[in-house]
Amino acid sequence: MPDEIALCYGTRPQVIKASVLRDALKRVGPVLAVDTGQHYDYELNALLYEQLGVAPPDALLGVGSASHAEQTAAILRRAEPLFLARRPAAVVVIGDTNSTLGCALAAVKLRIPVVHVEAGLRAADAMMAEEVNRRLVDAVAALLCAPSPAAAARLRAERCDGVVVETGDVAHDVLRRQAGRLPDPAGVAGAGRYVFATLHRAELVDRPELLRGVLEALDRAPLPVVLPLHPRTRGAVGSAGFAPRSALRLLPPQGYLETLGLIRGASAVVTDSGGVQREAYWLGVPCVTVRRETEWLETVELGANRLVDPATAPDTLVEVLVERLALSGGWPRDRYGAGDAAGRVAEAVARLLARGPAVG
Ligand code: UD1
Repeated sequence: MPDEIALCYGTRPQVIKASVLRDALKRVGPVLAVDTGQHYDYELNALLYEQLGVAPPDALLGVGSASHAEQTAAILRRAEPLFLARRPAAVVVIGDTNSTLGCALAAVKLRIPVVHVEAGLRAADAMMAEEVNRRLVDAVAALLCAPSPAAAARLRAERCDGVVVETGDVAHDVLRRQAGRLPDPAGVAGAGRYVFATLHRAELVDRPELLRGVLEALDRAPLPVVLPLHPRTRGAVGSAGFAPRSALRLLPPQGYLETLGLIRGASAVVTDSGGVQREAYWLGVPCVTVRRETEWLETVELGANRLVDPATAPDTLVEVLVERLALSGGWPRDRYGAGDAAGRVAEAVARLLARGPAVG
């Protein structure tokens, strides 16, 4: 019986990336698919399984929403007995969420090698939850799968203990696989030109004055702005007492395919999501990122993406958006690999397993 590989995920972007990783890892050994249940709303979880044709998880930890400590602790508590019972040969985690950290810590404390997909990204804000998670996971991982040459170089410069492999970005694989299935956005966005927007990060959404400033700027945009609301954002927009009066159209959360269709059809994108920044880049749509920094610096260097500090958004966002609307999107689209990252991750995992349990 070949060694079992646990593949752990729990939030919307992780379910998306797991759809290609699961298929690729199956070629190396049996896969134990573990959904922590960090995201549980239909649009953030079950709809993605349906749209992407992903089999249900083998284990659902059902942790749900809670404070960071409670959520991470619940993942640790529920992952440990599962890993003890199944003794996977490796535990693959994705990205920088509390699910990533909880599953990685549970594994490494049982001396099970951790594989970190999307390793080596860094932000200057060392206290940001995602930054804490990714630095800790990179520190304990036996295999670090970097999405870009810069991420791989950073890990080598940091002298991480694990083996560093540059694999490219699995999000690109998913987009390539699904590109022929994207629905026409006109049903949701209307017939004319529009801007597509997403806002979900705690640093913005949980600060009412910042959120209000960004929403009011979007409402003054020269084109309709369609903004599907993440559950965190839906609650915050309500409590910020904001109601759109002009350009802004608030939508319920959209499925993955609908979201990609909306990005592809947009004249520009405004977002604080790392995933949407890269999807806009690959689809040739100019992007504005409402953050002070981005982990996906290559998109800025190529001119595909521009940063707007949320604190200055009331004065600058519309102007930057107008500049973006004049662009044609002709940048090179190869900075995060060729869309074959999941296969490269699987090959690296196979090499890790072939080296036996004493990895380092
Ligand atoms: C999480 C990740 C973030 C990632 C994002 C992707 C952490 C620390 N954050 O942020 O890095 O970019 O997922 O979407 O892991 N909620 C629901 N339904 C759900 C899930 C959440 O209503 O299915 C609401 C709850 O009120 C919850 C809040 O959203 O408290 C935040 O959810 P949580 O999973 O803690 O963080 P996200 O903001 O989704």
